[in-house]
Amino acid sequence: MSDKKKNILITGGAGYIGIHCITSLVKSGYTPIIADNLYNATTGAIKAAEAIIGESIKFYNIDVLDKDALSTVFKENEIFAVIHMAALKAVGESCTIPLKYYHVNVSGTVILMEVMKEFNVKNMVMSSSATVYGTPQYLPIDEKHPIGGCTNPYGKTKLFMEEIMQDVYASDKDWNIIILRYFNPIGSHESGTIGEDPKGMPNNLAPFISQVAVGIRSELSVFGDDYDTPDGTGVRDYIHVLDLADGHSAAVQKLEQSPGLKVYNLGTGQGYSVLELVKAFEKATGKSIPYKICPRRAGDIAAGYADPKLAEQEMNWKAKRGIDEMCSDMWRWQSMNPKGYTS
Ligand code: WQD
Repeated sequence: MSDKKKNILITGGAGYIGIHCITSLVKSGYTPIIADNLYNATTGAIKAAEAIIGESIKFYNIDVLDKDALSTVFKENEIFAVIHMAALKAVGESCTIPLKYYHVNVSGTVILMEVMKEFNVKNMVMSSSATVYGTPQYLPIDEKHPIGGCTNPYGKTKLFMEEIMQDVYASDKDWNIIILRYFNPIGSHESGTIGEDPKGMPNNLAPFISQVAVGIRSELSVFGDDYDTPDGTGVRDYIHVLDLADGHSAAVQKLEQSPGLKVYNLGTGQGYSVLELVKAFEKATGKSIPYKICPRRAGDIAAGYADPKLAEQEMNWKAKRGIDEMCSDMWRWQSMNPKGYTS
């Protein structure tokens, strides 16, 4: 490929994590192209990202399940690698509509990889999740930890997507595939112009806290304070979404070395409890977060946090932003955009 900037196709690229990856990929010298059906995203995010990077972003409003539309993207652009993020991601919802989750997440992956193969594009970064580890058998969790203990359909779709990657690679070693297992991404770009914009009631802790802070929600429900953790509330490895985005740029750079198939945890290695995150958010923003202790949420684990050493050793990537920066960046987005994206 000539020395012009390499095109990176991001499926689901207008979503919370995808749009942050755009800013990181451009900084790393790549040209991002977005394919997104806008099921859980808006063009407002794309416009804001274009303002941040100072250039327009090629955007295809398509569904990865639409093989013809996907083929057009590959006909019209020379793609160096695909970052596959397009997926449904709500754990609770996946229990009520499992077939839709398997169709979008698993069939969508199969269709994408069939098109990639047809166009001889065999460089893939796959968005996976620490949820594939299920209930941790030891902590911190490294990439050797057994996978498959996840109980909800969302987590199982991520597991099956990983298995598909493993089987495709076993059948054709020309593929280079990097599977990234995200821990808990939170926060926003420092500009406050892109951020997490959940539809309806947030499932996740961080957006719920910031909606309480801005007055959209009255109080936080803390799901259980009787776990075997220092303060009894759930412990997670929160990672700044920009560190996670930089992890994707590092993975694309790794693909340039034809690494074959690799799996990396993207976490900080530091766990924080629910109440510790609440306190950190209050300290970073000066806002108070009223909460009440509620029963545990079905399917939750007590504690999970990463051993992130392998990504540092093999991709020269390490999370560098701390919890205070995660909270202050999250608050800047929320306070500047109380109703999320307006277009
Ligand atoms: C974190 C902690 C809750 C909400 C999930 C998916 C994972 C990824 C991230 C998609 C837990 C507690 C939460 C609330 C609370 N999703 N909590 N009150 O469950 O670790 O991970 O989201 O990629 O795959 O599994 O994240 O933010 O939902 O919960 O007390 O209103 O906060 O019990 O201890 P989780 P979370």
